[in-house]
Amino acid sequence: MNVTITDSYDAMSRAAADVIAATVTENPHCNLGLATGSTPIGLYADLVRDYDDGIISFADVTTFNLDEYRGLDPDHDQSYRYFMNKNLFDLVNIDPAATHVPDGANPDADAACEAYEQAIAAAGGVDLQLLGLGHNGHIGFNEPCDHFPVDTHVVKLTESTINANSRLFDSAEDVPREAYTMGIGTIMRAKKILVVASGADKAQIVHDAFFGPVTPEVPASVLQLHPDVTVIVDAEAGALCK
Ligand code: GLP
Repeated sequence: MNVTITDSYDAMSRAAADVIAATVTENPHCNLGLATGSTPIGLYADLVRDYDDGIISFADVTTFNLDEYRGLDPDHDQSYRYFMNKNLFDLVNIDPAATHVPDGANPDADAACEAYEQAIAAAGGVDLQLLGLGHNGHIGFNEPCDHFPVDTHVVKLTESTINANSRLFDSAEDVPREAYTMGIGTIMRAKKILVVASGADKAQIVHDAFFGPVTPEVPASVLQLHPDVTVIVDAEAGALCK
């Protein structure tokens, strides 16, 4: 595992965008696993800038997002599909048909999960998976529990995650109680993994996830077992790692 502590959120974003840009340059047909949340907004803006400057092209890139709220329509302004369209897909030359986000509106959860795993496998797997980090160590929406869930599945969100994400909704009551997420196995099957974290409120979990014991109670700790993980954090999130 390679952990880099950068000076600022902007430096973290640029360094992470460089890893993604390098992957796209090396393999223009790559499959990128993407994440939502506040943390990656800066790195998506950097990738859009790289595209505007003619440095990278997304023409042949395929993407698979980690997760999606269950029950939200793709055009709901808090859906992860909407977030990705707004922060990246609508701003670069990616083929919309090559962008995949679990279908939050599909009432058949098993079918939606199965279809998602099959789409990833049919594409040849994820080359580079981007991850943010929840305060309780969740990755995607894999919440702390007593095992590592393997494949894409439906989760009940914890109160901690509902509260953390309620800042983006009118109230905590409006946050969906369930979500689709790639499983820990889906994430671990990616050839390369890139984790970003920013801010003092992530310092403890960055420490616990990457320097504490591997346990499903801290889902991100499983990444210690992956052969190719790059962690890029800002100084505040890396404060306990020095
Ligand atoms: C959300 C998402 C995760 C994201 C995490 C951290 O609940 N499901 O995929 O990585 O929380 O979000 P943020 O970057 O806003 O702290």
